[in-house]
Amino acid sequence: LTIGVLISGSGTNLQALIDRISDGSLNARIGLVVSSRPSAYGLKRAEAAGIQTLTLSKEIYADPIAADEVIATELKAHGCEYVIMAGYMRMVHEPLLASFPNRVVNIHPALLPSFKGAHAIQDAFDYGVKVTGVTVHFADDKYDCGPIIAQRALAVEEGWDVDELEAHIHQIEHELYPEVVGLLAAGRVHVGENGKVSVDPR
Ligand code: GRF
Repeated sequence: LTIGVLISGSGTNLQALIDRISDGSLNARIGLVVSSRPSAYGLKRAEAAGIQTLTLSKEIYADPIAADEVIATELKAHGCEYVIMAGYMRMVHEPLLASFPNRVVNIHPALLPSFKGAHAIQDAFDYGVKVTGVTVHFADDKYDCGPIIAQRALAVEEGWDVDELEAHIHQIEHELYPEVVGLLAAGRVHVGENGKVSVDPR
């Protein structure tokens, strides 16, 4: 399976995918990494792994629809079959969603539909939840929405500060995302008529 990865920041989830591909435990390749920010450290990770990258200029990104048209065209040109959002701080729009129907995937550091938005870990911590976790879902044109593919729960232990919670959340993300991409690569993920995802047993 060839995937495109969309990033905006440090790219630790991208790195987890790169590492699982290079150790042979994930049967996929990354055709293109797209960044919404020229300074994203994830671009360096991609370059170090010999992966082609694309950073769209502010001018193009000023028009989100035009940007997503360019992104869709480039992803297709690089053979990408799925679009994996990994810390991508933009919404995806019709040109990209229509080019990759039920093939745009996002990871969110909370158990959706709780704690949507860009500060999910802090928000869950501030709320005082005893259980939180990670969600991987197909993206639609709303933030942190769309059919859920996988979730993993984490019990919040007494005495953790937000940094400890964050470290545990990221550790789960870095395990779960490559696993889900593996399920996609194996063709085991289906979206039903009811909009719910089913995963074929192995
Ligand atoms: C992750 O926590 C992801 O769930 C969220 O943004 C963060 C990205 O981190 N959407 P990284 O860029 O993969 O290190």
